[in-house]
Amino acid sequence: MNDRILFPPRTPGVTSRLPDVGTTIFTVMSALATQHGAVNLGQGFPDFDCDPALVEAVDAAMRAGLNQYPPMAGVPLLREHIAAKIEALYGHRYDPATEITVTAGATQAILTAVLAFVGPGDEVVVLDPCYDSYAPNVALAGGRTIHVPLVPGTFAPDFERIAAAITPKTRALIVNSPHNPSGTVWSAADMLRLTELLRPTDIVLISDEVYEHMVYREDDGAAGAGEHQSAARWPELAARTVVVSSFGKTYHVTGWKVGYAAAPASLMAEFRKVHQFNVFTVNTPMQHGLAAFLAEPAHHTGLPAFYRQKRDLFRASLAKTRLRVLPCQGTYFQCVDYSAASDLPEAEFCRWLTETVGVAAIPLSAFYADGFDQRIARFCFAKKDETLALAAERLAKL
Ligand SMILES: Cc1ncc(COP(=O)(O)O)c(C=O)c1O
Repeated sequence: MNDRILFPPRTPGVTSRLPDVGTTIFTVMSALATQHGAVNLGQGFPDFDCDPALVEAVDAAMRAGLNQYPPMAGVPLLREHIAAKIEALYGHRYDPATEITVTAGATQAILTAVLAFVGPGDEVVVLDPCYDSYAPNVALAGGRTIHVPLVPGTFAPDFERIAAAITPKTRALIVNSPHNPSGTVWSAADMLRLTELLRPTDIVLISDEVYEHMVYREDDGAAGAGEHQSAARWPELAARTVVVSSFGKTYHVTGWKVGYAAAPASLMAEFRKVHQFNVFTVNTPMQHGLAAFLAEPAHHTGLPAFYRQKRDLFRASLAKTRLRVLPCQGTYFQCVDYSAASDLPEAEFCRWLTETVGVAAIPLSAFYADGFDQRIARFCFAKKDETLALAAERLAKL
């Protein structure tokens, strides 16, 4: 007799490592947008293609037979170009051999940093609203996430509250400027406060800088305005920071999932131990293509002008609606206060906007651990001008 019927298959029950995690709001809103034919300004990705020269560079690498495992830390030429870019922009030299690792996007870089430095019982401070991977990353490491809100209204860092949240158990602080979702950008004064705050501690800073090349700040006239304040610019911070960036964001190729981390050699050595047994390496031809593309700085230095035009176009059309347009100093996100148009809570408003008005947005409450609701929605303006025009036409009917 066939013993397969004597022992019916049984999948073991498991205890979830992430019991609170469900489908993300981004997936939900994108599916809803498709279902209702809405203009999708929800999820953060461009609806236009990348530079064909980048595709050709990857294609050339594949045809040249560059299709096997690269070195664990990444293709050396790409690491050299990353080091040169950081030095040119922020004045800090990372050693490509020991201080830079190419990752499968910023998401993997952040998880890798958290797993490398955070252990059971450790605390990690994050500033809400924040990117949705941070807290689950800390949970996977066995740590505890301490959520400190940015100042409501301005989204500026509240250093007194951050200081109050720091305890002897605090192992890491995760910051993100230019900031998703608010579009704010940290100033030199903010970086100075951060430096002073961390000086007496052994806290590792994880600096999520995926929007580093999208800074438009020009409104306050302060010295240094318009410049991205990378943690790499600040020697004391650079000595304790894992800087994370994303080629997906910079070159309009979010689906390629290639990014990098840069950190002092002693931190990077630990980072690489985790990286080695997680992804081990990131795909080879993409890295060669990106190396060729990164050799031309205009590809990233031209980005602020490119996105500023889109931001200004979108903001000008939103000014004709009942939505109050909030400041946008960086990123490709524009937040609006919709309280003059609707009393609905954010999640309901965004659902209604998608289904009835035909424009998908993301509720800001999705970025808060406590679901804080301010009647603010986030739009992504990394879209073709005609997509933005269509969205604006629909929003004008609000
Ligand atoms: C703040 C922030 N960090 C990290 C990421 C992830 O970047 P990547 O696609 O390179 O993993 C995103 C993407 O939306 C983001 O907004």
